[in-house]
Amino acid sequence: MSEIFGVIGAGTMGNGIAQVAARAGYDVVMRDVAEDLLARGVTAIDRSLQRDVDKERLTADEKSAIISRIRATTEMKDLSNAFIVVEAVTENFDVKSAVFKTLDEITGADAILASNTSSISITKLGEATRRPYKVIGMHFMNPVPVMKLVEVIRGAATSDETFEATRALSEKLGKTALECQDYPGFVSNRVLMPMINEAIFALHEGVATRESIDGIMKLGMNHPMGPLALADFIGLDVCLAILNVLHDGFGDPKYRACPLLKRYVDAGWLGKKSGRGFYEY
Ligand SMILES: NC(=O)c1ccc[n+]([C@@H]2O[C@H](COP(=O)([O-])OP(=O)(O)OC[C@H]3O[C@@H](n4cnc5c(N)ncnc54)[C@H](O)[C@@H]3O)[C@@H](O)[C@H]2O)c1
Repeated sequence: MSEIFGVIGAGTMGNGIAQVAARAGYDVVMRDVAEDLLARGVTAIDRSLQRDVDKERLTADEKSAIISRIRATTEMKDLSNAFIVVEAVTENFDVKSAVFKTLDEITGADAILASNTSSISITKLGEATRRPYKVIGMHFMNPVPVMKLVEVIRGAATSDETFEATRALSEKLGKTALECQDYPGFVSNRVLMPMINEAIFALHEGVATRESIDGIMKLGMNHPMGPLALADFIGLDVCLAILNVLHDGFGDPKYRACPLLKRYVDAGWLGKKSGRGFYEY
């Protein structure tokens, strides 16, 4: 069996996944649509590994060996020998579905096709292929090299064999794999986003200041970050999109996004990435 670990997308998540796979000893092929995006991904990997070298958690030789195992390409066909491809492209159903259809055509029949989606149905992505039993969710957390969890999501048709192989692979990458079924938001975002939304409602209604809301959750619940700071870190547009997925998927008004969140997104105040969200950066 091939030992090529395929990754599609060289952005925040894709380059993190490529890094942990190469560090675990796999030959990685990372695909994006343009050379400059690939170069940015490789630079991010280099910087992240260099931090480990500086802290003496990795030698310079080990770092070079890891980087040499990552091949960056714009060609989809370079993934044809992969035993698994993890898709980490833009969170858009049409884009992901097209990627899955192509992967189904070019990879071997045994290859697992995984998605790192935060909110799109794994079952529906499986439907874009002729092998829905080989399609699964591998939801890594950001930053990938640091965060221990992979939420492994079983689509309606995902086989036990695919699940077991994905769980074993996640553990080889040094992660803990926890299983859940394919329902809107899986477990992570179904539990996290209503908490963030409620914190935004509390701010909107004047229940407390941003500092109090975040401080109460940090000191009182032992959370490392308050929910408003976390929302800024995730991106307010991303939070709004996920709440909309929960709202549409369950048809339950308890998931309606707070008007203040919509207002911030409309204003382009998207959190850390745009310099302003609930805090200023
Ligand atoms: N950022 C997070 O905190 C986070 C956490 C968990 C899951 N996710 C999920 O991971 C996925 C990627 O998110 P991200 O934050 O890395 O996004 P990003 O915007 O940083 O990167 C996405 C990359 O995909 C590339 N891309 C788009 N279409 C492509 C195609 N057809 N082929 C190859 N590359 C393509 C883009 O050029 C871009 O470089 C999304 O599904 C997102 O929901 C993100």
